[in-house]
Amino acid sequence: MTEAIRRATFEPVIEVWPGPIEVGVRVAALITDLVAATPHAAIGLPTGSTPGPTYAALRAVAASRAVDFSGLTVFLLDEYVGLAAENPQSYRSTIRREVTNDLGIAADRVFGPAGDASDPEEACQRYEEQIAAAGGIALQLLGIGRNGHIGFNEPGTAFDMRTHVTELSEDTREDNARFFVCLADVPTHALTQGPATILDAGRIVLIATGAAKASAVARAFVGAVSVDCPASVLRTHPDVRVVVDTAAAAALPDSVPRVVHGAEG
Ligand code: F6R
Repeated sequence: MTEAIRRATFEPVIEVWPGPIEVGVRVAALITDLVAATPHAAIGLPTGSTPGPTYAALRAVAASRAVDFSGLTVFLLDEYVGLAAENPQSYRSTIRREVTNDLGIAADRVFGPAGDASDPEEACQRYEEQIAAAGGIALQLLGIGRNGHIGFNEPGTAFDMRTHVTELSEDTREDNARFFVCLADVPTHALTQGPATILDAGRIVLIATGAAKASAVARAFVGAVSVDCPASVLRTHPDVRVVVDTAAAAALPDSVPRVVHGAEG
């Protein structure tokens, strides 16, 4: 059922860059700006393909020693049910491998919902408490699914949900099968920050690249704010920056304001 939302909406800042590399460099700059201003901030990070160039750019900044990331605390956006943090396919392992190890962020400062908890509901509650104890998430980075999901909040998820256990849609499992030997190995459930958890972040940066995301980006930022497109809830947050490449911006109507950057920025 469609839950059309009537509450204050804001116009996100939409930046369009030529391709995924420029998007990654730009988003890494937004994160390094935050670290320069608040070195002990908490940031929220997603996994997936889209943030790859961002994480590569952050690793390059860390290698140059231009910025000290070691004071950050990291909160994962989501985690598969059934995978312990040490499992190489867990999102906790992935984020350590792709980002936090090279940024000098200690493993005990990388938090995620416990995928292997005997009581997943309790694990969700505990995760909310860990985020609150860190003073909240200053900047939450997000990707977007082809169906408009953010985190693993699939279409239909109520916007007031906090971290919860969710069943993955078949589309999402198929999209993520590339990280596993076969589709049957992709977990059926995940623990995810809920829309209400995500909206508590001080700033949200949504990244999308490639033509496959164009329709989801347009549905998120044009038309109704509705649970049919979970990312549309971002329009109820006052500080959202959308950083996309030309291909992902292609379905946005001309009426949607955006700042278009060339390769040189
Ligand atoms: C990942 C996550 C997902 C992805 C989304 C896009 O932690 O929560 O919402 O951000 O599925 O995935 P990619 O970037 O692989 O296209």
